[in-house]
Amino acid sequence: MGIRVNNLIKAFNQTTIVHGISFDVDDGEFVTLLGPSGCGKTTTLRCIAGLERTNGGTIEIDGRVVSQPESDIFIAPHERDLGMVFQSYAIWPHMSVAENVAFPLIARNVDRASVPDAVSWALEVVGLSHLANRQPSELSGGQQQRVALARAIVGKPKVLLFDEPLSNLDARLRDRTRAEISRIQKELAIPAVYVTHDQAEALSMSDRIIVMDGGHIVEVGEPRELYRSPTKKFTADFIGAANFLTLTCRDQKWFAPDGSSITLDPPVAGQNGEQRTAVLRSEDLRLAAHSESVHADRVNTLSGVIEHIQYMGPHIEYAVKVQDTIINVLDQIEFARNAAVSVTFRPVDLHLLPNT
Ligand SMILES: Nc1ncnc2c1ncn2[C@@H]1O[C@H](COP(=O)(O)OP(=O)(O)OP(=O)(O)O)[C@@H](O)[C@H]1O
Ligand SMILES: [Mg+2]
Repeated sequence: MGIRVNNLIKAFNQTTIVHGISFDVDDGEFVTLLGPSGCGKTTTLRCIAGLERTNGGTIEIDGRVVSQPESDIFIAPHERDLGMVFQSYAIWPHMSVAENVAFPLIARNVDRASVPDAVSWALEVVGLSHLANRQPSELSGGQQQRVALARAIVGKPKVLLFDEPLSNLDARLRDRTRAEISRIQKELAIPAVYVTHDQAEALSMSDRIIVMDGGHIVEVGEPRELYRSPTKKFTADFIGAANFLTLTCRDQKWFAPDGSSITLDPPVAGQNGEQRTAVLRSEDLRLAAHSESVHADRVNTLSGVIEHIQYMGPHIEYAVKVQDTIINVLDQIEFARNAAVSVTFRPVDLHLLPNT
């Protein structure tokens, strides 16, 4: 049954923060709310959790209406059958790992005899069985976050909610814990809503991503679809920094701002003088010296000058000035600053945004 959010409105002190958004999360599905700081992700999640009272709309969890101010329905958070994991682990410092994990069961007055088995199960799922008797102060950040995860799943909730759970971990631990959360969510097949402003987390973990901006939903799609074929400039820019190239149509052909003719695959018909925005991903572009012959696939070339270079290790990030536009290119070959270069790409590498 999952989660249904219909026309959710939330205001703080007369200011509307969430403007009537609607989305569903299917059974077993992992859905991410992705968007810039302040766009209303946490507020939306807190409304689902019942930590905020909504101003309008309906929230259903597993077929039950848990919030509907129009009919005075508001189910308290502890009666919504959900598990939550926050950025701050929020585990009790004076309780052992096992006691922390048992806490939601004790608070809900479940049969005491069933608690040890449930705790062992949850600790095993997150791989912490051997640390059951430790105190939180004796755990690493990653381990503390796994305690929080065990505590979230111990009551076999109908829904899992995550708010930036990895932000306090260092980069390597973040990658590992990311994979771990995905694995556990799929294993338990509990629908999950995950809040982040980190595009890598959203792309790698989600079945679907909901892109938000200013309390509205911009676009919804599977990670690959949103990355390769976004329909909104905001999405293209927010998920994987994109280059935007304005193409102009003349005599059935498309031209870049530097006057080069651009081939599209599949071809796109245009009216004389029509302009369209094309998205180009930095990793699809290659640089070549002007005299150099390029791979036959790379029929599209723009002429530019290298303005800025950042050495990143696995690749080099170039900012290339093409007329008035800066095009960012990731390449492995070394070029010097101020070098005149061709930026080359294949027809399939261009994605035209729909006309709005
Ligand atoms: N309790 C509150 N009272 C008043 N305004 C609030 C309250 N909580 C959130 N806001 C405002 O609502 C807006 C959205 O906040 P929210 O925390 O949902 O953003 P977010 O998308 O989670 O951002 P971030 O990525 O920074 O966590 C912000 O402008 C914030 O200042
Ligand atoms: Mg937030």
